[in-house]
Amino acid sequence: MSDGARHIERTFVMLKPDALERSIMGEILGRFERKGLKLVRLELRRVTKDLAATHYAHLVDKPFYPELEAYITRGPVVACVWEGIDAIRVVRNLVGATDSILAAAGTIRCDFGVDKTENLVHASDSPESAASE
Ligand code: TYD
Repeated sequence: MSDGARHIERTFVMLKPDALERSIMGEILGRFERKGLKLVRLELRRVTKDLAATHYAHLVDKPFYPELEAYITRGPVVACVWEGIDAIRVVRNLVGATDSILAAAGTIRCDFGVDKTENLVHASDSPESAASE
């Protein structure tokens, strides 16, 4: 597919523990639904320390990793797969920048997130990560 082409793809999204603790899971899933994305899989699960280290392999050596590990393993998460035109980019746009304080107005992280760690949602950033996650 050439650059800029629009095509149907799937993306992996994880609602992190704060989304469930704060009872805003429905609000977040509703944003993906209202955008027109199709939910193709959804599962409530726990992230173990091992799974956290695999998922965040690119971050395990960072000074903030212990805080990130404590956060992502502290309660259940909702893992889901969404399908739609350019779904990876569309979902990343809906989610917003990593740091909730800097995320653009109207994004999930701007509207509900607290900071860089407690930012509610993970969304794949490429077809390769969507497939492996
Ligand atoms: P990253 O993959 O860089 O961002 P994104 O989730 O927007 O794709 O980082 C993964 C997670 O790591 C991020 O959602 C929250 C956490 N994180 C921190 O806690 N502190 C930081 O300084 C960074 C860069 C990330």
